[in-house]
Amino acid sequence: METHRQILIFGTIEEMDDFVIREWERIACDAVERKGWFAVAVSGGKTPVPLFRKLSDADGRLPWEKTHLFLVDERIVPYSHPDSNWGMVSDSLVKPAGIRSENCHPILVEDPVPEISAARYEKDILQFFGARLEKVPVFDLVLLGIGEDGHTASLFPGTTAARESKRFAAAVILDDTRHARITLTLPVINHAKNVIALVSGKSKADIMKSVLVQKDRRLPSSLVNPAGGNLVFVLDREAAAQLPGDIIQEKQEQLRNKLP
Ligand code: 6PG
Repeated sequence: METHRQILIFGTIEEMDDFVIREWERIACDAVERKGWFAVAVSGGKTPVPLFRKLSDADGRLPWEKTHLFLVDERIVPYSHPDSNWGMVSDSLVKPAGIRSENCHPILVEDPVPEISAARYEKDILQFFGARLEKVPVFDLVLLGIGEDGHTASLFPGTTAARESKRFAAAVILDDTRHARITLTLPVINHAKNVIALVSGKSKADIMKSVLVQKDRRLPSSLVNPAGGNLVFVLDREAAAQLPGDIIQEKQEQLRNKLP
């Protein structure tokens, strides 16, 4: 099935975040109306922090009591550690928005064996979705970032996790200078109804050209392709600086059509 794919470019990170908040609200309200709940998986990193803070202020418009918040990935550190994704999401979104603990699905990282934590997360996801292993959980929204090396989630180029085609969560053991991680895999990400990749800053310009123009399939970010779903790359002008004019021209046209 076709993926509906868009590249939208904004002048500032604030405009990007405002767009994502409108999309989050549209997707969440539609999901709750259709089936009574909204399942979203969010990434860590620096880019989404202001977005999460703004989302937590958008009360009244967002159905938090029917929202189930999952993580796209996590570093294997205590939640109190500055590198913890759940620590960041808790501080910037969960606590300010008052999201109840029964609606929160962090990745548990106490087990010393990362593979056991990955299997535990996969089990938690399946329990929530009530899916059997042969069915793939369908998130209503997955919010991704993209690293300068082309990784997304914790799917780094050349890793086993980036090639995982069956399991829904995987352990990622990097070099000894970086934390081990747990991540959703492409089978789950590519079954989501909506995927938004939020990318800002000039440091991302090179990689965004590799992903969006050269479509370099060695980069996990190039493999994000939710079949039958919506895929929106939300960039600021700096991150889009190396995209050819026609893409920018055509997408700005879409941008004008998309915004009220
Ligand atoms: C993580 C993220 C990761 C992130 C990218 C971009 O845990 O680090 O899930 O995939 O989204 O590395 O990070 P920035 O937003 O900080 O550039």
